[in-house]
Amino acid sequence: PTLPPKAERLLAWYDRHHRVLPWRISPAEAARGVRADPYRIWLSEVMLQQTTVEAVKKYFLAFTERWPDVLAMAAASEDDILRAWAGLGYYSRARNLKKCADTVAQQFGGQFPDTEEGLRALPGVGAYTAAAIAAIAFNRPAVVIDGNIERVVTRLYRIDTPLPQAKSEIRTELAKIVPADRPGDFAQALMDLGSSICTPRRPTCILCPFKDDCQALALDEPERFPVKKPK
Ligand code: ADE
Repeated sequence: PTLPPKAERLLAWYDRHHRVLPWRISPAEAARGVRADPYRIWLSEVMLQQTTVEAVKKYFLAFTERWPDVLAMAAASEDDILRAWAGLGYYSRARNLKKCADTVAQQFGGQFPDTEEGLRALPGVGAYTAAAIAAIAFNRPAVVIDGNIERVVTRLYRIDTPLPQAKSEIRTELAKIVPADRPGDFAQALMDLGSSICTPRRPTCILCPFKDDCQALALDEPERFPVKKPK
């Protein structure tokens, strides 16, 4: 199946330059048939909601060592989970983590729902997290949008509507290029691009897989996007 050219270029870049992270299946592993574990993807995405990748790594490793699957987490006490969460902040996330593990254990026999809609109904799982899990863990062609992705896409298409109103245009453009066969890698590639190359200040456009596509770069003003509404 032929992919949209932008998806093709982004995935080729990701195959070479993806970050190695403890919750990720590498493209090479995926090609060998290794599948992401929905529990680990859910846990990482909840931790990453308001915390940086660097800070999350050691918590993710500690949590998965202690509670290797959702049934183990459901069997833990809320107090133990809160104590293990100490330092990550936003403690409602930890309380929802426990509630969500209980729900998956009791209502779904330990299996996470495999659709965006089903995931969205879980405690602590908002629109972003549901889309991320659906794409990364279940290969659903969900449109994943976080702050990094907003920056990449508003530059690529020179979307000068201010945020947050630009969201629907961002979603429309992204939906057109999500590749059906690798939606999870596509989302994570956009995140990696936003964190390493398409940075808020002084982006490294010369290294960007979208350098010949990017409408903001064509205007020589990538830093102008995303446009923020004046306060
Ligand atoms: N931030 C949120 N989710 C992420 C992921 N899967 N990889 C890297 N950064 C992220």
